Amino acid sequence: MPFPKRVFSGIQPSGDLHLGNYLGAIKRFVPLQDEFDCIYCVVDMHAITVWQEPEDLKRRTYEVAAAYLAAGLDPKKSIIFNQSQVAEHAELAWVFNCVARMGWMARMTQFKDKAGKNSENVSLGLFAYPSLMAADILLYKTTHVPVGEDQKQHLELTRDIAAKFNHDFSASIAARGHDGDYFPITEPVITGPATRVMSLRDGTKKMSKSDSSSEMATIYLMDDADAITKKIKKAKTDPEPLPSEAKGLEARPEAANLVGIYAALADTTIDAVLSQYGGQGFGVFKPALAELAVSVLGPQAAEMRRLVADPGEIEAVLRDGADRARVLAEKNMAEIRDIVGFVR
Ligand code: TYM
Repeated sequence: MPFPKRVFSGIQPSGDLHLGNYLGAIKRFVPLQDEFDCIYCVVDMHAITVWQEPEDLKRRTYEVAAAYLAAGLDPKKSIIFNQSQVAEHAELAWVFNCVARMGWMARMTQFKDKAGKNSENVSLGLFAYPSLMAADILLYKTTHVPVGEDQKQHLELTRDIAAKFNHDFSASIAARGHDGDYFPITEPVITGPATRVMSLRDGTKKMSKSDSSSEMATIYLMDDADAITKKIKKAKTDPEPLPSEAKGLEARPEAANLVGIYAALADTTIDAVLSQYGGQGFGVFKPALAELAVSVLGPQAAEMRRLVADPGEIEAVLRDGADRARVLAEKNMAEIRDIVGFVR
């Protein structure tokens, strides 16, 4: 039996949200609401894999929820909640810790990047992180996960965990009357012109929450119009005019990044942007991009500020979302316990 379509995605409240999070994830969550059952999570348990000051964690949890709402997620259509309110995420992650292999985890490039030379000294949670991510997704039998490019390897691991669970427990799954596999093999949804937004100071480096190298490298969702404009005008570029076709961007990472950002903000394609701006220099393109960015991000930043100033509304959304998520999670987790052989 095919699995009913369901979307799940999550964002860590571990740093200030930036344009990459918006274009690679949040913005793309919004239209999916009209097509699928969607669940959007603030993954606070993922965030504590590296140290978070408790008050910062709370504030950022509200901020991610505020960004969801400000971007147009509708808590009536979608389930919006924070991960730690639904304990089954942690429970399923433990089961998956016992399904996933050490070698699979050790291959994760994001772990290697984050741990660096310090791998003996990072938390065990950071190593097991992708197993919790697989639990987030599979707890709801999610079929589609919209994310940025950097999450691709974690989604491949999620597929491996689902397949191994389905295989290892196939007899138990069948004995309990389930028709075929218990978990779907989830599809990553990595689409659009800005699935990997790069630093404004270095077109070969991903824009990231943890980039402390330069304030000017990152556009934050809470930036005001002046900051956005200044950062775009000072963005690193090359001296050539923009090409008329996408092929001309190949060896020009900074130009490619700005054109991708423009296309994503304007809901259009890279080709369409180049047919308008091909042959023009950055003296023309950058002010146009800054104006577009301010017009899209400005109203959302204002709404985020309004929401976090009085978090009652956010708290109610998260509580209601957690109640709805818990109903789905409890049902599936009861089946999973039974499949694994836990006595109840
Ligand atoms: P996180 O919190 O690092 O990022 C949240 C989302 O933003 C995307 N993203 C980007 N997209 C384009 N360009 C960038 N520079 C950029 N930086 C970040 C990420 O790809 C992501 O979609 N492991 C996840 C959180 C998570 C999750 C999940 C996601 C936990 N459980 C289940 C999906 C499903 C993470 O650390 O995202």
